[in-house]
Amino acid sequence: MRRKLVVGNWKMHGSRPANAELLAELLGARPYGADVAVCVPFVYLGDTAAQLARSDVGWGAQDVSAHASGAYTGEVSAAMLQECGCRYAIVGHSERRAYHAESDELVAAKAQAALGRGITPVVCVGETLAQRDAGETEAVVKRQLSAVIHTLAHCAAEMVVAYEPVWAIGTGRTASPEQAQAVHAVLRAQLQAATGHAGRMRILYGGSVKADNAAALFAMPDIDGGLIGGASLKAADFIAICRAA
Ligand code: PGA
Repeated sequence: MRRKLVVGNWKMHGSRPANAELLAELLGARPYGADVAVCVPFVYLGDTAAQLARSDVGWGAQDVSAHASGAYTGEVSAAMLQECGCRYAIVGHSERRAYHAESDELVAAKAQAALGRGITPVVCVGETLAQRDAGETEAVVKRQLSAVIHTLAHCAAEMVVAYEPVWAIGTGRTASPEQAQAVHAVLRAQLQAATGHAGRMRILYGGSVKADNAAALFAMPDIDGGLIGGASLKAADFIAICRAA
């Protein structure tokens, strides 16, 4: 069976004192019956690693460069993330696709760079409201995932996928468990056709997951946990979501 996974995506939030307090509360509320990790801004990876070391709470980054090293000002390589003990790197978050014009091919290259250093890419896919209204949801998420499957080839089964409908992110408008499950089933079928191992792959849901809707989402057969934005910044809320998993 698949063990549930809950990943906090802090985005560009936090400060050293606030992070230390949040992580201490997260550690204090263990054990969780699920895998738990936080993806923090690059500059906090060192502190986070020091505080979470020797615990079963993992940590990761919110992005990674597709390049191994070189003249890429501002970028952070997978080897650097590996040095910081990252277990995960989010790639292809809709905010990066939208504000940094990340293409499906670039997202795939980033996923490959992460895996090359033993870091699990959490590959985000999801449709906009206009795409959903136009009946394009399936086609959009399949296209986004297919680029990554193609690039990772025989390693594709090592990624984690996160379905994050853009219209549900930070809006308070969650996909219903049934809406999310329908897309997760499509993604799992696609992963199964490509890898033959979809039964052991984790597909997370993200988009306005809160303490009071997490359990219903996580109860769906193809929802293996969550990628949590806003609610991962409040210890009590994030702990409740981890417990719901
Ligand atoms: P949200 O963000 O939980 O604040 O909607 C989720 C995400 O963007 O990963």
